[in-house]
Amino acid sequence: MKKLDIQIVSGDNFIRRVIVDLKSSNLGKKYAIITDSNVKKLYAEKLQKDLKKADIESVIISFPYGEKNKNFQTVEKILDQLFKEEFHRDDAIIALGGGVTGDIAGFTASIYMRGLPYIQIPTTLLAMVDSSIGGKTGIDSKWGKNLIGTFYQPKKVYINPKFLETLPKKQIRNGIAEIIKCGAIARPAILKILNKNKDKIFAFNQKVLSKIINLCVKIKSNFVLADEKENGIRKYLNYGHTIGHAVEKLSKFSVQHGEAVSIGMAMINTIAVSKKIMSKKDSDFIKSLLKLYELPTHLPRTISSIKLIGALSLDKKTENSKRQFVVITKPGKAKISTLITNSDITKACKKHA
Ligand SMILES: NC(=O)c1ccc[n+]([C@@H]2O[C@H](COP(=O)([O-])OP(=O)(O)OC[C@H]3O[C@@H](n4cnc5c(N)ncnc54)[C@H](O)[C@@H]3O)[C@@H](O)[C@H]2O)c1
Ligand SMILES: [Zn+2]
Repeated sequence: MKKLDIQIVSGDNFIRRVIVDLKSSNLGKKYAIITDSNVKKLYAEKLQKDLKKADIESVIISFPYGEKNKNFQTVEKILDQLFKEEFHRDDAIIALGGGVTGDIAGFTASIYMRGLPYIQIPTTLLAMVDSSIGGKTGIDSKWGKNLIGTFYQPKKVYINPKFLETLPKKQIRNGIAEIIKCGAIARPAILKILNKNKDKIFAFNQKVLSKIINLCVKIKSNFVLADEKENGIRKYLNYGHTIGHAVEKLSKFSVQHGEAVSIGMAMINTIAVSKKIMSKKDSDFIKSLLKLYELPTHLPRTISSIKLIGALSLDKKTENSKRQFVVITKPGKAKISTLITNSDITKACKKHA
């Protein structure tokens, strides 16, 4: 796989850079800006105006915001609009928004006429450090989260931390969970930066944000380049996610992705400590960071251990009927464990009730 084209451009140069690039790369004759209802008002209309000024033709295709709309019906409506607007294979898609938009737009791009090129412009912290990179696309269904999807790389990813200034605090915290994940599996320095810079992060300090985003982007790109289809080390990015996805689903998505991953990381650490895979000190440090950023580490009351184990058995990461969990041996070092039993999970549920 060739190098990923990811650019982090903070501030006013951003749109200029995007336009120069689009003009020189000839990615599409025209562009469909796929976005959700929130980001449409905040940024998509402005982006369309800027593109128009530069003689770049575009249409906005929006859908109602929220995880509950990351489904086939939304994709079908977007496909309808692409056909109505007469999009062809020499046109392209711009995914402007958070992870939900990126996943839907990427999936649509991968199936419309067997594939249109697409660009990611992430506007949430989670999308900047995680979902916009790596080419995994997906939608949710009654069978579970992200079980329907494709691997389809965006041609380019443009990241501007300025977008975060309008993002609700809750969503910043969601992104922080993924950043803690990156630090825990590959780069403990990130955990130190988080530990020291909470105020700056919540004040949208562009320097600190750019630094953290840059570190996470590098980690994710390296994992993806080494293992695009997730047969090996890319799995480490699922740290906290196996339990997290089950929590998200069982809560009917009232627990958000980052929050669920936070609970998942805290619980898998508890299990790793009980199995002597990880030290209590390291587990406590990660838990203290989650708490510093007001992320949950306990299960919602409605989720029992029986429900959790039931949901885990449907997870797509179950291979040869052996459930795989990513565990941390120490900050920066991850491995896969297949030795975690239902009894381990039940005990952890009690501690995290
Ligand atoms: N493809 C991948 O590799 C991958 C990786 C991680 C997560 N994901 C997926 O990402 C999704 C979660 O992403 P998310 O947390 O970005 O959710 P999201 O896209 O729903 O965005 C969260 C909320 O923030 C709003 N928003 C977005 N940008 C904004 C801005 N700049 N200012 C104000 N509001 C803004 C959105 O309208 C939405 O209401 C999940 O569906 C998850 O499965 C995918
Ligand atoms: Zn995630």
